[in-house]
Amino acid sequence: MDGGGGGGGGGGGGGVTKKGEGGPGRRVWVGVGAALVALGLAGAALAGYSLAPCSRLSDSSASPPRPAPRRHDLRLPTSVHPHSYKIELVPFIWEGNFTFAGKVRILINVTRDTDNVTLHLNDLRVHETRLSLVGSPIIGDTSADVDLPVSKTDIDTDREFFHVFPKKSLAPGQYRLYLRFTGNLNNALRGFYRSSYKIGNKTRWIATTQFQSTDARRAFPCFDEPAFKAKFSISIGRPKNMTSVSNMPKIGTPTPVEGFPGYEWDHFVESIPMSTYLVAFTVCDFAHLSDGTFTVWAREDAIEQARYALQIGPRILRYYEQYFQIPFPLPKMDMMALPDFASGAMENWGLITFRESVMLTQQGVSTSRQKQRVASVVAHELAHQWFGNLVTPAWWSELWLNEGFATFIECIGVDFVEPTWKTCEQFVVQDLQGALQLDAYTSSHPVSSTVSQSSEIDEIFDSISYGKGAAIIRMMEHFLTTPMFKRGLTKYLRTKAYQSATKEDLWLALTQQAHNENVLPKNASVQQIMDTWITKTGFPLITITRNYDDGSATISQKLFHYGNMTNNKGSDWWVPLSFTNQANLDFSTTKPTVWLKGEESIHYRELNTQPNHWIIFNIKETGYYRVNYDIENWQMLNSYLMDPKKFTRIGELNRAQIIDDCFDLARAGAIPYSLALNITSYLSQELSFFPWKAAFPQLEYIHGMVNKMPIYDKFKNFFMSLLTRLYEDTGFVDNAADSQLTMYKRVDVLKYACLLGNEDCIRNAVTQFQNWRSSPQPDRNNPIAPNLKPTVYCNAIREGGQAEWDFAWERYLKTNVGSEKALLLGALGCTRETWLLSRYLYWAISESSGIRRQDATIVFYAVSSNVIGQPLAFAFLRDEWAAVKKYFESTMYKISGIIGTTVEMMNTEFELKMVKEFTEAHGAELGSATKVLMQAVENVEINVAWMKKNYYQIEHWLRHVYTG
Ligand SMILES: *[C@@H]1O[C@H](CO)[C@@H](O)[C@H](O)[C@H]1NC(C)=O
Ligand SMILES: *[C@@H]1O[C@H](CO)[C@@H](O)[C@H](O)[C@H]1NC(C)=O
Ligand SMILES: *[C@@H]1O[C@H](CO)[C@@H](O)[C@H](O)[C@H]1NC(C)=O
Ligand SMILES: *[C@@H]1O[C@H](CO)[C@@H](O)[C@H](O)[C@H]1NC(C)=O
Repeated sequence: MDGGGGGGGGGGGGGVTKKGEGGPGRRVWVGVGAALVALGLAGAALAGYSLAPCSRLSDSSASPPRPAPRRHDLRLPTSVHPHSYKIELVPFIWEGNFTFAGKVRILINVTRDTDNVTLHLNDLRVHETRLSLVGSPIIGDTSADVDLPVSKTDIDTDREFFHVFPKKSLAPGQYRLYLRFTGNLNNALRGFYRSSYKIGNKTRWIATTQFQSTDARRAFPCFDEPAFKAKFSISIGRPKNMTSVSNMPKIGTPTPVEGFPGYEWDHFVESIPMSTYLVAFTVCDFAHLSDGTFTVWAREDAIEQARYALQIGPRILRYYEQYFQIPFPLPKMDMMALPDFASGAMENWGLITFRESVMLTQQGVSTSRQKQRVASVVAHELAHQWFGNLVTPAWWSELWLNEGFATFIECIGVDFVEPTWKTCEQFVVQDLQGALQLDAYTSSHPVSSTVSQSSEIDEIFDSISYGKGAAIIRMMEHFLTTPMFKRGLTKYLRTKAYQSATKEDLWLALTQQAHNENVLPKNASVQQIMDTWITKTGFPLITITRNYDDGSATISQKLFHYGNMTNNKGSDWWVPLSFTNQANLDFSTTKPTVWLKGEESIHYRELNTQPNHWIIFNIKETGYYRVNYDIENWQMLNSYLMDPKKFTRIGELNRAQIIDDCFDLARAGAIPYSLALNITSYLSQELSFFPWKAAFPQLEYIHGMVNKMPIYDKFKNFFMSLLTRLYEDTGFVDNAADSQLTMYKRVDVLKYACLLGNEDCIRNAVTQFQNWRSSPQPDRNNPIAPNLKPTVYCNAIREGGQAEWDFAWERYLKTNVGSEKALLLGALGCTRETWLLSRYLYWAISESSGIRRQDATIVFYAVSSNVIGQPLAFAFLRDEWAAVKKYFESTMYKISGIIGTTVEMMNTEFELKMVKEFTEAHGAELGSATKVLMQAVENVEINVAWMKKNYYQIEHWLRHVYTG
């Protein structure tokens, strides 16, 4: 799954996306994942058992609180395995009904004597249950079945279990379970749900699915755990004037639905063995475009916007067949853009579903960033067709294996179709550096974490599973070398095809390959190395202390985190280390020359570097760690960077690494801020994308800390002076001939220049917006270059009043392009009019306002990114808690994300107290999804400590050291 969605923000703080797409920082909160990019949030949300007890309690004081089920009880018994499902579903897609009727026949294998058959179900009513002993070896043949009486059935709502008790225990053998049921076509964007859009003033309805992680059980009773793979034969009864699409192609011609003259059945070919969470079906009246067996679907009005996805999708799919050396096993592929969608996209096998803004893009309307987002998400979901769908992690605790791999492969897929975008380099300054920041909080979690309840599963769709997961896989690729790594991967996928697997299976395949090719010493295994990276929270700080007399160095490691590290002991990661020096300047060799093999520190004699030359460790930032040096080395680096003729000899990614490491080392107290700021000063000469991309969020963090403080003007002048050359270089004009990265750079520069009050920037933005307003048909004719829209919209709305706001709101309502809607929603949060912001927040939680439920998080994020809006957003959450909670009822995880973003920049004791009171009062109502709340509190604590420790240091530096 892919989290994104809101994507497309951008402008001066208005955007709603992860780092690098215009959001204010890099923290990517779980929950806002749906609006922020990197995460995929499951459509799933709090499971019944974490919420239901609360509501039951408040309803009736008589019922005693139920204890939460114990972890081990939450899993299905293993005495029964599903072999295949035959599913018939008829959705009643009209107002006043919105239910569906279904039948499921499940062929099950009983492997051990059992007195019950237990499977999952949620929000379904079962009307009929039948069980029989299978008589004939022919799967579809029921004539020889022997009916077995059922003594009773029972629903366990806490665990979402349905128990069937036969009169007599079942001996091992093959049985058939038949269930007839009805369910709700809900509007909660999970399970089997409804979505809609308008043509003129007529509403068109869609019935569609989102099952990951635990919501297939809302559409039909099933063994809803990823390791229970089975074959699915699906039949969908739909209105005659609509279409249905599912994982597999249709078989035969439509047949009548008995009793429903306006309906007919579509039958789909039986699937290959797959997990329940990957099943999908949609009933809609969409248009489509095809390239052979690859088809894209969207609203008829928007179908032209799907051309780009169709242009790259089939090429990426074929490329992956070569990359994995395994053909795509299904006969067709469909991709569909849905008006209402909880996350960014979902990799259902053979039917990938998206929210519109991440699949559709329109030349002349969408920004370059949005187009890249489409490419990335398409590449991500296609990668899952192998990694996740063909071979599936046996349980959600290994979700990172799925998402980390898809995130890692995604840039390789995009790189194939858009080689000039340098997406694998962008990975470093976005995903990797973003993950390092989230992982520097002690409330982070290990990549591989124990989860059992649905709400806990939802929570781990975060930048740790995606970003860190991908980053440690990339590190592994570099220490194993790319060709060997690919061969090992193919071996793993082939061995485990159509099955579930564990990380140990992958480690084993890679270790065997590495030993065969002599890439790893025989006494080392991939598991030994990787276990240190996936079972612990955080990452190491590598400290290089040189001995300038004998040319050696001490290399040591300890856990890195914000807050006080002085008491941290040494740590035991296996750390691959690559380095270069001032004479070599080799910024391409990433194979490690030395390892910390779980050792706390080593003495290394082969630096081969002259005492007056610097060294740089972690070439291309392929290692998932930060590096600190002794002060002499830092000073040599500093002088070299300050030399305009020399600094470009250091590779771009390593310049980005140095900037990012320096700032974070200062944040963690490992080096003084004066050193980080001294080093940053070289940026006034820097024109490359990557170092700036690393610098912006770091500078923005300081900006966010001091923007209400007396030294703000000094900091602003410093930041502005760093930007001067770059601003002149990029200019305000979007030039279609520029490279993707130049365009991105311009967007960033303008965002910050305008934010810091650069008059030329603001004047340009306001003028362009006025030109748009005065254009006779603003919905047809927008004179603003697509890439400049985030900046122009946000700043014109910030500088303007109600007239500008209303104009943008009207454009939001009228545009037919999903990504444009997301952009406008982000920009509407930029206004300085308090009442407009306040009304906007109310609108966010009222669907009749025109803001879709899926987009409510974009509004909160946009308002919170605004220095005036941030306290309003928090107060709104606190004061309108009941209404907010009700609105997000079935997607509670989104609330924790919203809380995270509203508190992100808080930095006073008073604010900390408020946040603590708030989380104490309401934390329990969010069920077990508490990681984000812990991160939120820790985040404010660290900000408060940061102010105490660093404010005066920075003031001193700005007043007395910085000479501009
Ligand atoms: C179920 O049993 C049948 C017959 O013994 C066997 O062919 C099939 O592979 C089994 N399937 C599962 C999922 O255990
Ligand atoms: C929805 O329509 C079906 C088919 O006509 C009917 O059986 C069912 O009772 C209806 N449900 C509701 C809630 O109206
Ligand atoms: C169902 O059977 C399994 C063993 O097959 C057993 O562990 C479990 O407790 C039973 N569940 C109920 C509700 O009886
Ligand atoms: C909306 O519906 C009304 C009546 O139902 C009709 O008079 C009007 O023209 C419609 N408006 C549009 C834009 O189609």
